[in-house]
Formats: sequence, C-alpha cells, structure tokens
Amino acid sequence: MRIAMIGTGYVGLVSGACFADFGHHVTCVDKDAAKIASINQGRMPIWEPGLEALVKANVERGRLGFTTELQAAVSEADAVFIAVGTPARRGDGHADLTFVFEAAREIAGALTKAVVVVTKSTVPVGTGDAIARILAESGAPAGTSVASNPEFLREGAAIADFKHPDRIVVGAEDEATCAALREIYRPLFLNKAPIIFTGRRTAELIKYAANAFLATKISFINEIADLCEAVGADVQDVARGIGLDNRIGPKFLHAGPGYGGSCFPKDTLALLRTAEEAGVMQRIVQTVVSVNDARKAAMAERVRDALGGSLEGKRIAVLGLTFKPNTDDMRDAPSLPLIAALEQGGASVCAYDPIGREQAEPLLPSIEFAADAYAAAEGADAVVIVTEWDEFRALNLRRLAASMHGNVLVDLRNVYDREEAERAGLIHHGIGRGRTDAIAEPSRT
Ligand SMILES: NC(=O)c1ccc[n+]([C@@H]2O[C@H](COP(=O)([O-])OP(=O)(O)OC[C@H]3O[C@@H](n4cnc5c(N)ncnc54)[C@H](O)[C@@H]3O)[C@@H](O)[C@H]2O)c1
Repeated sequence: MRIAMIGTGYVGLVSGACFADFGHHVTCVDKDAAKIASINQGRMPIWEPGLEALVKANVERGRLGFTTELQAAVSEADAVFIAVGTPARRGDGHADLTFVFEAAREIAGALTKAVVVVTKSTVPVGTGDAIARILAESGAPAGTSVASNPEFLREGAAIADFKHPDRIVVGAEDEATCAALREIYRPLFLNKAPIIFTGRRTAELIKYAANAFLATKISFINEIADLCEAVGADVQDVARGIGLDNRIGPKFLHAGPGYGGSCFPKDTLALLRTAEEAGVMQRIVQTVVSVNDARKAAMAERVRDALGGSLEGKRIAVLGLTFKPNTDDMRDAPSLPLIAALEQGGASVCAYDPIGREQAEPLLPSIEFAADAYAAAEGADAVVIVTEWDEFRALNLRRLAASMHGNVLVDLRNVYDREEAERAGLIHHGIGRGRTDAIAEPSRT
C-alpha cells in the first residue's frame, strides 16, 4: 500500500518508519522544512532508541521518503494518516484541532482518488465526523472515508510498542474502511496482535479513557506515597504488594513527582472539556488533574524541607530533565515547575540530562548545564534526581557525595535505598519511604 503520513513528529515519524518496515511505501510529510531537511540528511529530529537505523534501512530500500510537499505525497497515496499535534488550547484546555483541520483541508485539495483518511492524532470524540465534513466541503473525491486509529506507543519504547502493540484500535463506519486498515496492519494481524474494530467515536474515546486511567493510577500511588510517609510505610512495597494482583498489575505504580509529558496532562484536560460539553461529570479525572498539579507544585517544598527550610543561596544539582527516561521530550516535564520554584526560592540550579539538554536549554535559560552527574553535583547543597535515567542507577554515590558541598539527596524516583545513600554519607529523601522511627506513638488514651 502507498501511505502518506501527515506530520512527522514523535508519532508520525515512528509510525511512518514502522509501516515502511512492514513493506508499505510511505511518504512522511511535514510543514517544518528544517525537520525534513535534517531527516533527509540522516539526522533524526527526535531521540528515540533504534529510530535512526530503522529510518536509514527503509530509506535505502526505497520504501520511505520525507518531504514538505503534501500535494505530491497525498495524490499518490491509498491511505493518508493525520499525525499532527493536538496541544491543549490555551485558556480552556480543549484539544486544539487547528492543525488537524488544516491538514484535512490540505488533504482534500490534494486527493485525486477516493482514499481512507486515518486520524492517528489524539482527538476528541466527534473529530472524525468533523474531518469527514471538511473533506466533503473541500472537494475530496466521493467515497473518501475517515477512520480513527489512535496511537498508544510510548516515547522511549516507541518502535517496540508500534511493532508489538497490546492492541490496535480501529474506529470506522463501513466495512471497506475496516478492510483497508486490516491490510495496512496485516503484518501485526498475522502476528496475532489484537485488533479491535469499533465505531469512530468509540475509538476516539478509547484513547482518552486509556490515558486518563493511567494518569489515575499514577496519582493514586502518589497519594498512597504521601500516606506511607505519614504512617511509616514503604510505597515501593505497597506498590509491589498490590501490583502482583493480576487485577491491578504492576505498571504505572511508581510514586514520583507527578506525571508530565506530551500526552497525559493535555489528554486529561481535553477529556474533561469533552465531558463538560456533554453535560457529564468526570469527578475522578477532575481530581486526578488537581492532585497532579498540586503534586508537581509540592516538589520544590520537599527540596526546601530537606535543606532545613530555606532555599535561599543554595546550590542544587538536578539530575534528569526530560519527562521520563529514554526520550528528549521536555513537554510538561515535572522538572520545569520544580526548577522554576527552586529559583524563585533563591536557589541556583545546575542540571544534567543524558539526552534532553538541547530541548531543555531554551526552556531553562537561567540555569547552568553540566556535562555529567558528578559535574552537576560539584559544590551542590543538594542533588535532586528528577528523571530515572539508567545511568543514574549506576552512580558512584561516594564520588557524588565527595564533590558536593552538602549531603542531601532528594530522590524523587526512588532510584536509591536509604541505606545505600547513607553508606556514601548522603541523607536520602525518597518518595513514600516512611520511617517507623519517625512516627509518634499513637495516643492510647
Ligand atoms: N508523543 C507521543 O508519545 C504520543 C503518543 C500517542 C499519541 N500521540 C498523539 O499523536 C499526535 C502527534 O503527537 P506528536 O508527539 O508526534 O507531535 P509533534 O508535535 O512531535 O509532531 C507533530 C508534527 O506535525 C507537523 N504538522 C502540523 N501541521 C501540519 C500539516 N498541516 N502538514 C504537515 N505537517 C504538519 C508539525 O510540524 C510537527 O512536526 C498528537 O495528537 C498526540 O497527542 C502522541
């Protein structure tokens, strides 16, 4: 099949490269000429494990190309995917569909025959109907159909997720459209990946419900972590104790500084706006959003408390800036509000991130950047682990402690145990690691 992928970001680039690897002929389109030029020179605009080699191999096989020319790519395609961004609209949190609708209009003008237009972007319920209307009004050939095919890949494991998905969701309103999607995903279908065919609106909602549920799991364990600290329990053990229950599962039960990234924050907000417009309460998701906002805001207070109550004049080393490991994505990263609050409190910050520096620098113009974790810790009163990159699991804590001015390790990802840190001369402040010796005896009266 010939596929045009409109939008060559995290999702479009990975999906396009994987579809080409399945044997389809894929042209990835992006408005950003610098991005396309960079890919055409073999430089990936994003950091994603395995992506560069996958792109190179498929370009060499003649099955994958990159262009800014939407017209040419779409006019030759049998299926056109929309994978443009849907950020939160400023002010109201609604998904901003400007890019999606603009892409739909451009596609309509470029089509020379009826095709399947597939929305891979995360879009609110009813967007597929709106795209179908735009296509018809903008002169798309009769018979052009619209499907919803939300993407569930995780940055940092995107290729593996795309090739071995837990499930593929296809929302379509007629059998011919389902057949086209079945053909596109045939290699995965043959591999027994579960494919769910459903109505378009249902498929759109599945994506939001999935992300809202995962965000709920994270906020749940974060609140349990607070309780652990207050009652002398250990959240790591609680998470393991509940996660081994198959009905609960161990994933997304890592207490930390609150969820961030390009999806959960905007998708939970967009779900709330959809519900509001439909006149339906979503109290759980509403609470999750406010719990997470409060959590992110509270992280600087933890650092302040660990430093004895004041940040004024303190030097703080921040390890990890991206919203999670194995990506360079800084969108809504918990490091951003944390660093802003640390600076507001009078501290200076020196940060190190294994991959995210290029994306982080423009967002954090007032901080210093170090070449590695030890250089960041040089002269610091406290080291704060914000993102659990693998290389932070292998730190020589004695060496780290020796280069510091102070001895405080605020471990927002529970990378280290208290005992291990203490052996290196550091005072460890983890998340949800309550100490029984710090709990006052309950009154027996
Ligand atoms: N990033 C993820 O992990 C992830 C996972 C699942 C779903 N999603 C969803 O996928 C969608 C894309 O996300 P992303 O992270 O890849 O975004 P992104 O911002 O990395 O990429 C979007 C790209 O689309 C391009 N674009 C915008 N309008 C265009 C047009 N008319 N023609 C050509 N190119 C155009 C932009 O220049 C940009 O390069 C979003 O809806 C997101 O919610 C993202």
